[in-house]
Amino acid sequence: MPTIAKKKLAEITQNLLSENIENAFLKKTLEELKLLLVEVSGLNQEAAVNSENIFLSSGKAIGPKWAGMCLEDIPRTHKFIKAIQQAVQETLKKNPQKPVTILYAGTGPFATLVLPLLSLYKPSELQLILLEVNTISIESLKRIIKGFDVFEYIKAIYHCDASNFIVPSEFDADILLIECMQHALLREPQVGISYNLLPQMKKEAVLIPEEISLHLALIDTEKKDEYLAIENNEENRDYYKNSEAVFTLNKIEIIENCTNFKKEGFQFPEKETHFSEEQLSNHDLIGVSTEITIFKNISLNTDESGLTVPLLLADLNHDQSVIGAKTQYIVGSEPGLEAQLVRS
Ligand SMILES: C[S@@+](CC[C@H](N)C(=O)[O-])C[C@H]1O[C@@H](n2cnc3c(N)ncnc32)[C@H](O)[C@@H]1O
Repeated sequence: MPTIAKKKLAEITQNLLSENIENAFLKKTLEELKLLLVEVSGLNQEAAVNSENIFLSSGKAIGPKWAGMCLEDIPRTHKFIKAIQQAVQETLKKNPQKPVTILYAGTGPFATLVLPLLSLYKPSELQLILLEVNTISIESLKRIIKGFDVFEYIKAIYHCDASNFIVPSEFDADILLIECMQHALLREPQVGISYNLLPQMKKEAVLIPEEISLHLALIDTEKKDEYLAIENNEENRDYYKNSEAVFTLNKIEIIENCTNFKKEGFQFPEKETHFSEEQLSNHDLIGVSTEITIFKNISLNTDESGLTVPLLLADLNHDQSVIGAKTQYIVGSEPGLEAQLVRS
């Protein structure tokens, strides 16, 4: 079994990383990956227990069924895998004598975003430290490791809450990978985990995603529908108008705020954003948009993935006095951007 599964995984990885892959083939390839992962892990997606989420002090950890389904967000999964491969390649090039170590927080039941890459590297080149809070996902992950016979790549696997996990100092991780998020950094603990783990890593460690920023956004629905009706539309997405970032999660911000973040009662600053009359008259919805730079030039555009779909706040046709919003990113058990509309 391991040999067949390994061979199939290697084939899927080659296809995923092939240049200019066509949409239909990409979809088929990711469907094959999902089937393979479900088969090897034996995860029963229909069992009610696998839909149960866990509520942590830093946000919601989604159940194994939902975490496994994240794979089906095609642009997300494809771009993350490509980005991680690029980051591994660059790190390896800088120091070919030493394996690249990825600390992956919130693996879900399959460690979807790194597993395919194991077929490209030797254990002397790539090592993984895996963190996951859900017991069923951890058990599934162990079956994945056994089923694909990839024990030699695993430096450690922890059943823990990554938002308060202390990383053993001997783990010299090069890349910190976290994908515990929804659009608008809502509900899930991406921010809490990033603020706990990144400050424990060496200065030059790579954070993936490199930057997530939230913006107040105006949307022109008609133009958007026209834009999205064209498949593979490469034109500029001129149907929305983003404000400057109202919240940013990247290395610089985390390092700057991490000491205060740990203090009781810490709050991110409140921001007030207004749009001009002209901007408001050209759009019909106001919401929160999410921009994600995964690594260097690999990013997810607005509306490209479930993670970058705007979170709607109001319909300007019905609420014509709205001119902007006061926003503040809230951390804790229900994280998210609190937004209060400002009216003229
Ligand atoms: C959105 S899913 C993504 C799964 C996988 N990373 C992917 O991208 O396909 C997030 C996963 O992180 C886990 N998780 C969420 N919060 C966590 C925490 N504080 N510590 C460890 N795992 C966590 C959840 O249980 C879930 O399996």
